[in-house]
Amino acid sequence: MACDFLVTGCRGQLGRDLMTLFATEHSVRGIDIQDCDITVAPDIHRAITEIRPRVVLHTAAFTDVDGCESDSENAMRVNAEGAGNVAVACRSVGALMVYYSTDYVFDGNKDRPYTESDRTDPQTVYGQSKLQGERAVRAALDEYIILRIAWVYGRHGRNFVKTIIGLGKKQIETVASGGELPDSLKVVDDQVGNPCWTMEIARQTQAVVLSGLRGLFHATSEGETTWYGLARVVFETLGLDVNIVPCTSDEYVRPATRPKCSTLENDRLKTAGLNVMRPWREALESFLHENGRELLSEG
Ligand SMILES: NC(=O)c1ccc[n+]([C@@H]2O[C@H](COP(=O)([O-])OP(=O)(O)OC[C@H]3O[C@@H](n4cnc5c(N)ncnc54)[C@H](OP(=O)(O)O)[C@@H]3O)[C@@H](O)[C@H]2O)c1
Repeated sequence: MACDFLVTGCRGQLGRDLMTLFATEHSVRGIDIQDCDITVAPDIHRAITEIRPRVVLHTAAFTDVDGCESDSENAMRVNAEGAGNVAVACRSVGALMVYYSTDYVFDGNKDRPYTESDRTDPQTVYGQSKLQGERAVRAALDEYIILRIAWVYGRHGRNFVKTIIGLGKKQIETVASGGELPDSLKVVDDQVGNPCWTMEIARQTQAVVLSGLRGLFHATSEGETTWYGLARVVFETLGLDVNIVPCTSDEYVRPATRPKCSTLENDRLKTAGLNVMRPWREALESFLHENGRELLSEG
């Protein structure tokens, strides 16, 4: 049966919130890898031609940035070819495609936020594969929406905010049980970005889709911080007395080099009067107000 919206990656962190938000006013279906692997072109083609959505919200991706570095073949297959398969299937049923891209398409060396007209130059396999995905979407479709998002967190799945709450809780419990005083929590303080709540991205998606505007957009919460700054606001808002100290990227080496500057300027959304995402701190406080108690009670 035809539906308004189809969400790929519907069990992922963004996919789940898109399903929740769009289901309030539209008919929505979701698929994930258990239902259909986007790298198998005939399978995703069959799924989309059977469901016949008006709009496909394509979140499915290989999102483990370090994992992409050690498995570049799979990164390209899922993030580039998979996105191309979805785009071709959208073309065959006349569906609008929304593709979620990333700040990692830039080199991260700029000292100001990146705009949509800045030159891309990804420094990681993940960034390269997502940029190839953008190109595959543009090549297959006349009409598309590409939303570049960054530093995503939400209620579901794995993300920095949930991880840091877990680590903070563990430190507090160790101290309370009289255990050995744990090391202070070191958090990187020389990378800047715009933290984005999945529910805000979902609302921004809705605003752009319904507006009729098409093309490439940067879509992040206003304002910037570092991972250390983000962790501090999380602990302050939840009233957790955690011993954290800032550290440099050099002290926390990862397989994929993280960009120093990840901030995006929503130039095109602002020009169109469609920039609906709240400043990062306000959005984070809402997220923690709604979900903090539950997150704290999780093991
Ligand atoms: N997370 C971020 O900070 C961030 C930043 C910028 C952009 N983005 C982009 O935003 C989108 C959503 O990110 P997210 O954090 O919500 O991702 P996520 O939680 O990792 O969800 C992605 C979903 O896609 C599924 N998937 C993976 N390979 C697939 C395949 N071959 N066929 C079908 N489904 C497949 C995953 O299943 P499994 O879990 O079983 O693999 C997962 O359910 C992605 O396109 C990502 O690149 C994310």
